[in-house]
Amino acid sequence: MGKVSDVPPDRAEVFDVEERRIAIYRLDDGFYAIDDICTHDGGPLAEGEVEGDQVICPRHGARFSIKSGAALTFPAITPVQTYPVRVDGEDLLVGIAD
Ligand code: FES
Repeated sequence: MGKVSDVPPDRAEVFDVEERRIAIYRLDDGFYAIDDICTHDGGPLAEGEVEGDQVICPRHGARFSIKSGAALTFPAITPVQTYPVRVDGEDLLVGIAD
């Protein structure tokens, strides 16, 4: 769905896949994918600041784990959906369950 070189280390790149907006992150140990939509009020997570393996929602400041999707701070309480990412050469492949 995208290329390794599309995703910089300090921010997410968003891809539209099967009517979802998925944010891909490049962390120290690999690539991770989460929904681009904050579970609190729909904020665009990919526009949020990345600190380590956490992203901060730009709308109200909730933190999410990029690796597990866990909502770490209020006002979000519901985890964000995560997706497995596989690297195949230069290609990024994201697993989406039916
Ligand atoms: S929309 Fe993300 S914290 Fe409110």
